[in-house]
Amino acid sequence: MASDDFTALLLQQCAALVPENEMKWQWMSHRPGEEDFSVPDRIVGFAARHRLAMRGHNLLWYWRTPDWFKALPDRTSAERAMIERVTAMCRRYRGRVFCWDVVNEPIYIGHGRADALRRTVFLDQIGPDYLDLAYHAARAADPTAALVVNEYGIVYDTPEEEQKRSAVLRLLERMRRKGTPVDALGVEAHLDAGGAPFSATKLRRFFADVAALGLELQITELDVTDENAPAAIAPRDRIVADAYARFLDAVLAEPAVTVLVTWGLSDRHSWIVRRECSEAGWRKDGLPPRPLPFDAELQRTAAWYALATALAGAPARAASRFLPRRA
Ligand code: XIL
Repeated sequence: MASDDFTALLLQQCAALVPENEMKWQWMSHRPGEEDFSVPDRIVGFAARHRLAMRGHNLLWYWRTPDWFKALPDRTSAERAMIERVTAMCRRYRGRVFCWDVVNEPIYIGHGRADALRRTVFLDQIGPDYLDLAYHAARAADPTAALVVNEYGIVYDTPEEEQKRSAVLRLLERMRRKGTPVDALGVEAHLDAGGAPFSATKLRRFFADVAALGLELQITELDVTDENAPAAIAPRDRIVADAYARFLDAVLAEPAVTVLVTWGLSDRHSWIVRRECSEAGWRKDGLPPRPLPFDAELQRTAAWYALATALAGAPARAASRFLPRRA
């Protein structure tokens, strides 16, 4: 991590850091019992040196699980491997990672289960209790970190997302009732400029329901795709900025929102610009998308000003109780 213009911007603009892919299990482990911590170590070390709060992303995600785990023969070995992974990460970074996305994206309505759980390798191998086992293991290995359920598709005013919001709420209620240690809901906010309908009222009600369970809320992956906005940069940026503004005004009204992370800082490094998301979300005109607060030349976009305005106008709140106290 050389000192370059991007790093300088990061240190000037950000108070927290999250690895986009480098902590995902599949990238860290190619064989049973082996995990390569070298890249995560460097990132966590960088954050510590620069006094950036470090989000842990993620411990378990169906989409980035090692092939060897999927091939394990029985429940016992799957459970053991899952718990070892969670324990090793939480222990190693204890005191330096302030929150963990323990299970990433556990809900999928389309799989048709009454509990709305996504049919993943964890569910298949271990059963619905895999969540409780994973969160308990994380708590045991690091009692200080905030344990997060991170989910996407719960922002917009569509029947699908409304259904998913209530499924997430029911999952969190069940976890609380059973005494499964969960501290926050992570709301991935991969927004779509000029696309889906948005209701600030419904989203705020959902956030209030989550907060009423005693949980914090974190906005974990904010960015805005612009395939439904015009080619010309000025009107396009205005539409993107407007999506940021409307979303942030709604969610920052809830004082239990304690963390806000964009999914990338500049358009120089973004999964949307790299076209790693679904093809349906790609611009048809082939122009590079402009999803983030800085463009590829590291110049502020209208989105940066929308963020600054929203943050300046947001109601005051207590810092997350999980954030390290700064001397
Ligand atoms: C994405 C990364 O940004 C991409 O580089 C990678 O190809 C796939 O994963 N939800 C999450 C993130 O929780 O980890 C995903 O990140 C985006 C969706």
